[in-house]
Amino acid sequence: MIKVLITGGAGFIGSNFVRYMLERHSDYQIVVLDKLTYAGNLLNLKDLLNEPRLTVVRLDLCDPGVAEVVSGCEFVVHLAAESHVDRSIHDAAVFVRTNVEGTLQLVECCRRANVKRYVQVSTDEVYGSLGPRGKFTETSPIDPSSPYSASKAAADMLVQSYFRTHRFPAMITRCSNNYGPYQFPEKFIPLMISQALANQNLPVYGDGQNVRNWIHVTDHCVALDLILHRGREGQVYNIGGPSECANLTLARRILELTNRPKSLIKFVTDRPGHDRRYAINYGKLKKEMGWEPAIEFEQGLAQTIEWYEGNTVWLETTKNGEYREYFKKYYLHTAAERA
Ligand code: NAD
Ligand code: DAU
Repeated sequence: MIKVLITGGAGFIGSNFVRYMLERHSDYQIVVLDKLTYAGNLLNLKDLLNEPRLTVVRLDLCDPGVAEVVSGCEFVVHLAAESHVDRSIHDAAVFVRTNVEGTLQLVECCRRANVKRYVQVSTDEVYGSLGPRGKFTETSPIDPSSPYSASKAAADMLVQSYFRTHRFPAMITRCSNNYGPYQFPEKFIPLMISQALANQNLPVYGDGQNVRNWIHVTDHCVALDLILHRGREGQVYNIGGPSECANLTLARRILELTNRPKSLIKFVTDRPGHDRRYAINYGKLKKEMGWEPAIEFEQGLAQTIEWYEGNTVWLETTKNGEYREYFKKYYLHTAAERA
């Protein structure tokens, strides 16, 4: 068995990636390292918690115990992070601690343990904001706008320095906005779906004309798996799709697909430092690995709405906080248990 560490595996993209990797690689033993913050939800892995090839370790990235968890792992995919821009505006410190200090501790442990391949899951937000034309390439300047994206950019720089200084075998990925099942309903698409289903207002920031480049989480998982195995060490890979959409257009479409009235849209105060537009040129990944997004946005959005409609227990317990109480027996949290 090949041991693969996935940090943040109880979060949105992490849990989708754990599921994808277990299905795709029957010879992989997956270890999830996750602090289980408010965003770490073991309900996301509910159907997998008795799977013998999966172990969940509840641990903070900044805990010295990370060294022991990394030991014996051949591959590491680092997704754990504080990920919500709005939260970083109110409390930046936890973003620096987890995204910067936590990443440093992880890469140092991986270097000492001679990990063979490491993927740093970063974000297109490190490039800042675009005007109406153009797309981010891997050589676009790093120009973050929020404490979240600044902390992710700092982590990228640390990983790059480990590659240059120690020949640490790392690849960095920068993906655009993901959507799909198991996304915490503080992010735009699940929040809008959840509000629509509850006949509540959909809060749209500013004039609603900010544009995001949407990609289905499964397409992101396929790209991460390819980059883990075939990426060139020290390289950055952009991941994105052709689906650019203004927030207001998207909110209206969600109301149409849920048969709710347009009057539910409520314009609210804009986010400070709000990036106007993101768009990704993923030509490098396409050229080197043949990757292209397979899930068309309109179809993926309809399936995602169906998923939230069909998973009311997940949605309700995630919204009311009950998910925090579940499954305490399924994760290992002391060194003795992990031994
Ligand atoms: P998420 O917030 O859903 O999940 C983050 C996970 O990290 C949670 O399970 C949480 O418990 C865990 N975590 C947080 N702090 C931790 C700590 N100190 N120690 C250990 N675990 C900790 O995030 P997501 O949307 O799934 O994003 C995953 C990664 O992908 C992040 O690094 C994010 O920056 C990046 N990313 C996200 C998107 C997107 O659209 N969601 C796009 C591009 C890149
Ligand atoms: O681009 C990748 C990034 O995408 C990831 O790195 C981040 O982790 C992820 O959170 C996401 O960042 P955004 O800020 O783009 O996503 P969010 O879902 O918070 O917002 C999407 C857009 O919708 C953005 O323009 C702000 C707007 N918005 C958001 C919320 C929560 C609203 O209009 N109303 C809202 O209530």
